[in-house]
Amino acid sequence: MMTRRNFSYAAAATTATSYSRILGANDRVRMGYIGLGNRGDQVHDAFLEHGDAQTAAICDLKDEYLDLAHKNSRGNPPRFKDYRRILDSKDIDAVAIATPDHWHALMFVDACKAGKDVYCEKPLSLTVWEGRKMVEAAERYRRVSQTGIHRRSAKFLKEAVDYVKSGELGHVTMACAYHIVNEWPLGIGKPAPGPAPNEEEWDRWLGPAPKVPYNSNRMYYNFRWFFHYSGGQLTNMGVHYMDMMRWALDKGAPEAVTAMGGKWAMEDDREIPDTLEVLWRFEGGTMFRFTQVNANAAAGNVQNSEMELRGTKGTMYLHGNRWEVVPEKISDHARPVRTPIGRDAQRELERSGRSAQIQPKVVKGNAGTEFHTRNFLDCVKSREKCNCDVLTGHISTSATILGNIALKTKSYLEWDARAEQFTNNAAANQYLKYDYRPPYKLG
Ligand SMILES: NC(=O)c1ccc[n+]([C@@H]2O[C@H](COP(=O)([O-])OP(=O)(O)OC[C@H]3O[C@@H](n4cnc5c(N)ncnc54)[C@H](O)[C@@H]3O)[C@@H](O)[C@H]2O)c1
Repeated sequence: MMTRRNFSYAAAATTATSYSRILGANDRVRMGYIGLGNRGDQVHDAFLEHGDAQTAAICDLKDEYLDLAHKNSRGNPPRFKDYRRILDSKDIDAVAIATPDHWHALMFVDACKAGKDVYCEKPLSLTVWEGRKMVEAAERYRRVSQTGIHRRSAKFLKEAVDYVKSGELGHVTMACAYHIVNEWPLGIGKPAPGPAPNEEEWDRWLGPAPKVPYNSNRMYYNFRWFFHYSGGQLTNMGVHYMDMMRWALDKGAPEAVTAMGGKWAMEDDREIPDTLEVLWRFEGGTMFRFTQVNANAAAGNVQNSEMELRGTKGTMYLHGNRWEVVPEKISDHARPVRTPIGRDAQRELERSGRSAQIQPKVVKGNAGTEFHTRNFLDCVKSREKCNCDVLTGHISTSATILGNIALKTKSYLEWDARAEQFTNNAAANQYLKYDYRPPYKLG
């Protein structure tokens, strides 16, 4: 029987042997899966789409999930409840981590130290500090890494990015993203607290997070409504949009962020807001806005899209399986005043080609995770950088985490991306890291 006393994470990672195999194009990648719940099962399936991914080991806390993964695995992989047993094995080349967010950093860093390449679900980390440690570990141990922001490997979205980068949309000064659902009034409900059906499983699930009394709402799937384990919908869905915007508009980290919101309508256990607006400023004159409404949905939002990029020559609406461009009518507003100067300006615009109207466009596609797992397998073999390596995932994840810090501190925060510190609010810097519950230790 495993107890916390003999389950010492701090010691394990530092003693893990570094071992990695050089793989040829025809080799199978021996994958270990850590976390096989909702997303882990999808990621496992997305790897199994490819004949060169072998399920070599599986790990989860829940027997039902292990049973299902074992059944799907097309083999007889060993099953574990302690992820370090996977890392100890010389028969594993890479791991896929799909545990709750508060476990990502420890598992990722331990995997790098053990010489495994790592596919890690988004959001990359719970805090900015953890994300930086993950980037450092991947660099130090020369690991191939992929963050599970799978839109990065979708062909039709790459076409959208190329379209924006070609300048067709003009200067995009505002990008918006939406997470709009109606969960009112009961949402995740209010189940009665404790005792835990299995205290040891609860303790292991909490890992580095503070020890609190058991509540079923905090655990499987619903953890994303609690700040100790997740950044809420802002980091859950928001990181996909933040990353898409950064990719299309070629942006790094934000320069500033502010946020407002609260839990104003929902009558459930959640800690995260049901109504939230976050606004970031990026270098080069672009703002990004994330709107989260969880207590109203029928009206949708503009074009019912997930995202919109608003440029001087047109707007791009991005949906899960298509994107479209709605042109601006340049001639309507390129001549604001009927004066000779106005006409000169119009002629100048026409001469430079800037008044030429763009064409409407619709492009359909598929953003399935199998393209992202394919990219990871290829890179494990070639040792090239994945489409969404750990640094890309860190910058996108951190940007969303900053939004939560602005919300919690009720502030407008200026961000020094090199130092990874706020420059105008010392109190806000305290939220960039949290103290792990002993004996858990990162780095
Ligand atoms: N890329 C995407 O579109 C996408 C979609 C959904 C979820 N996710 C991400 O996937 C992650 C998991 O989310 P989920 O919805 O699958 O949650 P989940 O609760 O359904 O699954 C998490 C699994 O991790 C296991 N686990 C927890 N602690 C563990 C430990 N110490 N050792 C081994 N296993 C452990 C749990 O037993 C559980 O089965 C989250 O970070 C989430 O943001 C990504």
